[in-house]
Amino acid sequence: AKEPLVLFMPSGKRGRFPVGTPVLEAARKLGVYVESVCGGRATCGRCQIEVQEGNFAKHKIVSSLDHISEKGPKEERYEKVRGLPEGRRLSCSALILGDLVVDVPQDTVINAQVVRKAATDRVIERNAAVQLCYVEVDEPDMHKPLGDLDRLKVMLEKDWGWKDLLIAPHLIPQVQSILRKGSWGVTAAIHRDMDSSRPFIVGLWPGLKNEAYGVACDIGSTTIAMHLVSLLSGRIVASSGTSNPQIRFGEDLMSRVSYVMMNPDGREAMTKAVREAVNGLIGKVCAEGEVDRHDILDMVFVANPIMHHLFLGIDPTELGQAPFALAVSGALQYWAHELDIDVNRGARLYTLPCIAGHVGADAAGATLAEGPYRQDRMMLLVDVGTNAEIVLGNRQRVVAASSPTGPAFEGAEISSGQRAAPGAIERVRIDPVTLEPKFRVIGVDKWSDEEGFAEGAEKVGITGICGSAIIEVVAEMYLTGLISEDGVVDGTMAERSPRILQNGRTFSYLLHDGEPRITVTQNDIRAIQLAKSALYAGIKLLMEKQGVDHVDTIRFAGAFGSFIDPKYAMVLGLIPDCDLNEVKAVGNAAGTGALMALLNRDHRREIEREVSRIEKIETALEPHFQQLFVNAMAMPNKVDPFPELAK
Ligand code: FES
Repeated sequence: AKEPLVLFMPSGKRGRFPVGTPVLEAARKLGVYVESVCGGRATCGRCQIEVQEGNFAKHKIVSSLDHISEKGPKEERYEKVRGLPEGRRLSCSALILGDLVVDVPQDTVINAQVVRKAATDRVIERNAAVQLCYVEVDEPDMHKPLGDLDRLKVMLEKDWGWKDLLIAPHLIPQVQSILRKGSWGVTAAIHRDMDSSRPFIVGLWPGLKNEAYGVACDIGSTTIAMHLVSLLSGRIVASSGTSNPQIRFGEDLMSRVSYVMMNPDGREAMTKAVREAVNGLIGKVCAEGEVDRHDILDMVFVANPIMHHLFLGIDPTELGQAPFALAVSGALQYWAHELDIDVNRGARLYTLPCIAGHVGADAAGATLAEGPYRQDRMMLLVDVGTNAEIVLGNRQRVVAASSPTGPAFEGAEISSGQRAAPGAIERVRIDPVTLEPKFRVIGVDKWSDEEGFAEGAEKVGITGICGSAIIEVVAEMYLTGLISEDGVVDGTMAERSPRILQNGRTFSYLLHDGEPRITVTQNDIRAIQLAKSALYAGIKLLMEKQGVDHVDTIRFAGAFGSFIDPKYAMVLGLIPDCDLNEVKAVGNAAGTGALMALLNRDHRREIEREVSRIEKIETALEPHFQQLFVNAMAMPNKVDPFPELAK
């Protein structure tokens, strides 16, 4: 008779194994990821699986609970002491007796939710850099003088196959006491993604240590965002953000570079500020997830080039002027404590590579998450901030550039502009006949006109207008004929509406007649035109490099992209013509990329490889850029057609 067939779900991997093989061993042989810390001693409980009963015609399997062994004494003991959920078995103890369909429970459900925003909809398969391994070490023997550490290494090789192990120096003085405290049973954390290809003992605990955590972090100029993740289950334990305290040295990136240039201690002060904020944020996610920060063993960081340099303690001055030289563009590895990060002493820290002088590790993270290089179709990936980072490509070729959009999209340089916060107008509609506005305000959850707002506004007063609404109001003004294709406010409209106000030789639109008064001025419209032209010209330049006049799909990364309506972005000509169903906001894609690199070290190699293949285009050096910029000043564009808008 044939050997039993075992099918693992959800991966679908299958194979035949002799009767009596532990399910865990079968999983290992097929490359199915099932965690194990105790090495099959039925004490860690990490190897849980479920067996499905039924006919699986597609695979010609009749799986039955009789096809798996009864619980043995060790598994019984585990169940009694720690408890096993209904239907769950320990795969290290359960033996294969007949055909089986085995379900590997996915604690990664939450991580799938985070990743679902990604276009490719992929769940991160786990292959973390850190693995916990329990061993029982031989007691010392006068006749065999091998040291305690050396006998530990012998067992780690014998039970787990780790060869050529190195150990973090701070652990060496602790080895003896930890071994004795654990009565010779200890758990070692092995990191296998160090600069040297040798595996490294980075942590050691007496007895069975059953949990280890990792952190994925995106340092933005305005906000720092972080996920705390269980490295053993892939579960996101907590996610949070904090504002970047470097704002006090300068709102935007360039002003922070100038601060470094003007102040002798400027670089140090900003490095200290961002590291303190990261430490604070670690405290916050750990409190939320009830995790001891010293159980964090691995970290992955992404950031734009200037934040990347400042976090690492590198002077960013060179990034402030042509040729925008990065001090280092490749991926980097550190001990977290070398960067003053207060987590486990043996924790490692990995930074994704930077793509170019203005296209950072954050863009690399977004590229990893969205994977234009995995697509046949032409994908445009844009992250809009003070600098837009633009990536365009497919399986054949990927090109990248940045474009100096300036801070207008974030509400700066706009007369009534502000950051997205309660009191900010976030959406706008203008009635084409009466020219009266309707808006939504952050903190007030409904559309209203001026009067309606006055009624329900006790809690929140209107304080300004944020980036998403500026795009909408300018687009609405264009659609209602309040401004011309060139962006000039039509003064003759004053006859039709009292909302058109004259200021000297130009006109503005009164959006909210209150305290403060919120108007959209000719200067505001200019600022938006300049920003959108820079963005569009950068995109267009990359399209020309690729030899295409159409993109198949557009991904907006970052907070800004989550709030703007793709239709309005296209009406204004921020982005090229594209099927509107193919324009999607993907949230913090850079953070998702960091998460992927944290949970699976293969993704680190993947993005290192892809970044080295990406062709970097420097917009400042392209003579043609200026012409594209001028064409893009008109709405939506002086020369390029937008057939999708007509649909
Ligand atoms: Fe630890 Fe099965 S491997 S309980």
